[in-house]
Amino acid sequence: MAETRDHLKGLTIAPLPRPRTSADLVADTLREAIARGELKGGTPLRQEELAARFGLSRMPVRDALRILEGEGVLTLHPTRGAVVAEADPDDITEIFEIRILLECEALRLAVPQMDEAALEEAEEALERLDNDAKVGAWGRLNREFHLALYRPCGRPRLLALIDAQHNAADRYVRLILAHFGYAKASQKEHRRMLRHCRAGDAKGAVAELREHLAGAARRMRGFLREPG
Ligand code: NI
Repeated sequence: MAETRDHLKGLTIAPLPRPRTSADLVADTLREAIARGELKGGTPLRQEELAARFGLSRMPVRDALRILEGEGVLTLHPTRGAVVAEADPDDITEIFEIRILLECEALRLAVPQMDEAALEEAEEALERLDNDAKVGAWGRLNREFHLALYRPCGRPRLLALIDAQHNAADRYVRLILAHFGYAKASQKEHRRMLRHCRAGDAKGAVAELREHLAGAARRMRGFLREPG
């Protein structure tokens, strides 16, 4: 990261989709290896070893480690360096309790406001999910689908809270994506949810969403007890 100069102090940089860089490649590779359980919680990730393995300089490796730290996938120690984060079952429980509260409310408010364009946007997000099985992309596309359903609720603060909880959940979602055929099961639930929305059935859609999220949390906790 470049040093911030004083005359840029007031500059706010909005998050934009990043271009594919060497750092992205390293981050995607490590993220998937962690999700597949090849790199377990507590494993140290040394910059020089990674740089040699990827055939890159240390700079993109350091950037990749920062990306993953921001996602909670690893922790950076001042002396020990980067370590794969331990997954915490209580943290999963709390994140998903919050997600259920926020997202069920957003969906309840959104269903009566959904027009054809909103339904179409959700449908397109589902198709992209069908066509992209990569763990790294899956989290982002899943979020696109969910937010497409909630956006008609017209509550920007609620949507921002939901987005933050998706960030917190991402590293855990990655744990189960590579296992149990979760992506396929999840897509079935997404389609049932969307059918309820199309029918204007807010109650049915909310019930399906609640089970979708509670089921994901159950699988994640189960995975932590018995990986693989
Ligand atoms: Ni989902």
